Amino acid sequence: MVDSQEVNNKTSEEPLDNGRRNFLKLMIVISAGAAAAGVLKGAIGEIIAPQIGLTAFPTLQIVDTSGKPIVFDDIPVNTPTTWLFYYPLSNDPNFLIKLGDINGKPLSVKPSTVTIPADQTTFVSPGGVGPEGMEAIVSFSAICQHLGCIPPEIHYYPPGQAIPGTAYGASDNLYGIIHCSCHGSTYDPYHGAAVLTGPTSRPLPTTILRYNSDGTISAVSMIGPTIYGKPSDLTGGTPFPAGQVTTVVQNTGEA
Ligand code: FES
Repeated sequence: MVDSQEVNNKTSEEPLDNGRRNFLKLMIVISAGAAAAGVLKGAIGEIIAPQIGLTAFPTLQIVDTSGKPIVFDDIPVNTPTTWLFYYPLSNDPNFLIKLGDINGKPLSVKPSTVTIPADQTTFVSPGGVGPEGMEAIVSFSAICQHLGCIPPEIHYYPPGQAIPGTAYGASDNLYGIIHCSCHGSTYDPYHGAAVLTGPTSRPLPTTILRYNSDGTISAVSMIGPTIYGKPSDLTGGTPFPAGQVTTVVQNTGEA
């Protein structure tokens, strides 16, 4: 015969045991879920690299390969070969172009209001820098806004030069044209790298230059569409080392 006290103890303990079992089951499920989430997070972390970047545009003085700051006369008019420097991150290439007329005289490039055909918004490209009356040096991202081709595919053709493989003859090119041979987009460097012909629907971003009082030139900001392929101009690449205040311009020699 079973003692009534024993019955009472069993009946009072059984719900407690079930509760413990349920609690343990719940903990197992939570632990398994947390482990799976941890693995998933790790996997996603490997697929999506963490975005590094800057919080503000740096000011970088443009120097030659020996470290000497460039001045206006260091850049040839109508820049027959491609000059590139990196800004705002160390892997963002930009053209440095000294625009001239058909006779090789430096042109003063005025600010332009540029339309972005993709969304019909506008921005003001600030024009060129240089001595007063000869603000001829301009800079734009050298990454095509269509699908991201870079030099030598995207290339500056000075005034009077025909563009191979296009309808642009020498007489059509009065102020210089940036052309991308990947799919034929053309941009107008005299008017803020506005779109002349597609398939691109975005101008090249303008790299804003400053003409310093000692005649040197610095890159200080960017305006226009975001640099192609990046979440923002300041992320999606590798910043220059902390404290670096210069960026090197190189004549690639590509005509
Ligand atoms: S990537 Fe330049 S035109 Fe297509």
